[in-house]
Amino acid sequence: MVFEQSLDQVAPDTAQAINQERERQEATLGMIASENHVSKAVLEAQGSVLTNKYAEGYPGNRYYGGCDHVDTIENQAIQRAKELFGAEHVNVQPHSGTQANMGVYFSVLNPGDRIFSLSLSHGGHLSHGHKVNFSGQLYDVEQYEVDPETGYIDYDDMARHADEFDPDIIVSGSSAYPREVEYDRIAKIAREIDAYHLADIAHVTGLIAADVHTSPVGHADFITGSTHKTIRAGRGGIIMCRDEYADDIDSAVFPGSQGGPLMHNIAGKAAGFGEAQTDSFVQYAEQVVSNAKALADVFNNQGLSLVSGGTDKHLLLVDLRDSHPDLTGKEAESALSDVGIIVNKNTVPGETRSPMVTSGIRVGTPSLTTRGFKEGEMEAVGELIVDVLNNPDGEAVCDRVASTVDNLCSEFPIYAGTPP
Ligand SMILES: Cc1ncc(COP(=O)(O)O)c(C=O)c1O
Repeated sequence: MVFEQSLDQVAPDTAQAINQERERQEATLGMIASENHVSKAVLEAQGSVLTNKYAEGYPGNRYYGGCDHVDTIENQAIQRAKELFGAEHVNVQPHSGTQANMGVYFSVLNPGDRIFSLSLSHGGHLSHGHKVNFSGQLYDVEQYEVDPETGYIDYDDMARHADEFDPDIIVSGSSAYPREVEYDRIAKIAREIDAYHLADIAHVTGLIAADVHTSPVGHADFITGSTHKTIRAGRGGIIMCRDEYADDIDSAVFPGSQGGPLMHNIAGKAAGFGEAQTDSFVQYAEQVVSNAKALADVFNNQGLSLVSGGTDKHLLLVDLRDSHPDLTGKEAESALSDVGIIVNKNTVPGETRSPMVTSGIRVGTPSLTTRGFKEGEMEAVGELIVDVLNNPDGEAVCDRVASTVDNLCSEFPIYAGTPP
């Protein structure tokens, strides 16, 4: 009976591709800042029978029978998130970080209302009002930028600009801004013009949970995040807010913008949030930041330009225009990928190339830190990256780098022992 057969028997081509992806992850250095490797426990939760269950509604108030156990699981995820972040109300149902942002917009904005957010090429995210995204199509959007000289947000300029535009909501948070956001200053700007403040902590959810990055709780009206990046939990999104907005947020998520919750992912969130409450996760988050700073030192010493000169968190944005004016982000991504170092091309402030080409690369440390890398290994990886950027077509250099990458991957397996 097909029902009892393994994936390998039912869809060998799919099983093969999954195995190949597992091998790719083991055999390359993943440095995409938004990615991580979840634990076996989180994988187990996400691959469980919970995928079978419909549970529209919220714990204790569902549209379907048989929800006792999924209620328990969703409450566990909510409770752990409350403990980790100190938030009054938590919704763990958003299917993704983008859905979490949609939930907030739908709860307090009407079509045509105004969003003020960080521009994509200065580190913002599509769901903060880009014209190709629903957020840019439904709302009137104006964007702030970083100071081209310093690479930092200029909060005085932001305040002037916000006052002029008079938005209904200010979005803080980013995908490629290497510095901490000053949530208290943005909250003050928002208060003065009577706007809401949404802090999107997608990238730094784990760093905030571990208290190695400032928290927007107490400053922002709404906080959204992804749950699979630095926090290494089940894949998806989360919304946090004060109790006064709880009903509006919950109904904007379901039934406003989603159907049944992905209970297997919510179990993954419960598992990952539990891990994030341990001392070893705090050490992990501290190491993520120390590793990023170690990498920044290597790049600075080797003459690469970093947007803002360095980092406060888990990612660096390398602006190639000064050091390698003829090398595009796309070419750099491809040359690094060929030696087993996986990064993404990224636009930089003042970008002149298209988003598919770009003049920068974004480099992150969450995944390698999960593998056990410390400052020493990270410095070695930094030197390898510089070697490739300096010699993207040099066969001997690239062969040497590829072989060192192989050795590092074997020395630091992701899933040691029986692979999941
Ligand atoms: C700041 C920010 N917000 C939202 C998202 C969207 O998250 P998701 O891919 O889960 O929709 C991202 C994704 O990288 C992000 O960086």
